[in-house]
Amino acid sequence: MSTENDTAEDRVLLITGASSGIGAATARHACRAGWRVVLAARSLERLQALSQELGGATRALAVRCDVTSWEDQQRMAAEALIGFGRIDAAFANAGFGGARGFLKDTVEHWREMVLTNVYGAALTIRATIPALTDSRGHLLLTSSVAGRRVLPGSLYSVTKHAVTAMGEAARQDLNGTGIRVTLIEPGMTDTPFFDQRPTDALQDDDIARAVIYAICQPAHVDVNEILIRPTAQQG
Ligand SMILES: NC(=O)c1ccc[n+]([C@@H]2O[C@H](COP(=O)([O-])OP(=O)(O)OC[C@H]3O[C@@H](n4cnc5c(N)ncnc54)[C@H](OP(=O)(O)O)[C@@H]3O)[C@@H](O)[C@H]2O)c1
Repeated sequence: MSTENDTAEDRVLLITGASSGIGAATARHACRAGWRVVLAARSLERLQALSQELGGATRALAVRCDVTSWEDQQRMAAEALIGFGRIDAAFANAGFGGARGFLKDTVEHWREMVLTNVYGAALTIRATIPALTDSRGHLLLTSSVAGRRVLPGSLYSVTKHAVTAMGEAARQDLNGTGIRVTLIEPGMTDTPFFDQRPTDALQDDDIARAVIYAICQPAHVDVNEILIRPTAQQG
């Protein structure tokens, strides 16, 4: 997707959870809008394939990162700066769900989910704040409708409430730095998040467009929350 108009000045969006679903779709939309992207997740081969699709490493840099590892997150931010020299927006999007019911799922699954959805998002904020301060950039977090209304027996819903709180905590903490903070709160979206793919759901592209809307606003406009449901969603 590289064009003769590409320049090293093009803004840089770092995305965790970029190997699939909402993160990968956002990378495609951002590249089309002229951004360079840093693609982070654990599945390096999938990231590399997406990087090739988007024009190679000068436009889309693939970085292996397990968001539960502080070392990985620090390396991710460092590789972004080495590769592109700046980070203008960071999208903490990596996450996964679990079964509803406090007697469902294994405790190991719970541990990984809490570490990924909550601790991982916090580490992405921590790892990217210095670069975002330099760029007077933009921080985005993927919460959920499940981070706005409690779902019965859903520890996943609890993790997403934590992400919603994290967005507001970061917004207040970063006030005065010029960094903007946006919570993306999708309703049911048809991605590999679900083992059984939903019908009447949003598409990953629908969420990607919301991210692009937020990051393309003028510097004085801070879109704090975008809550999106499919028209058909009941809850
Ligand atoms: N789909 C929905 O209905 C929906 C609704 C509301 C919110 N969300 C949220 O949207 C976000 C993206 O989900 P999705 O729907 O796009 O699902 P998805 O297609 O399954 O994507 C999840 C992404 O998270 C990454 N990931 C998981 N654990 C990770 C870890 N430890 N380190 C780094 N990356 C990790 C996965 O990559 P690797 O496996 O390669 O690491 C993958 O790229 C999640 O936070 C999810 O909770 C989804």
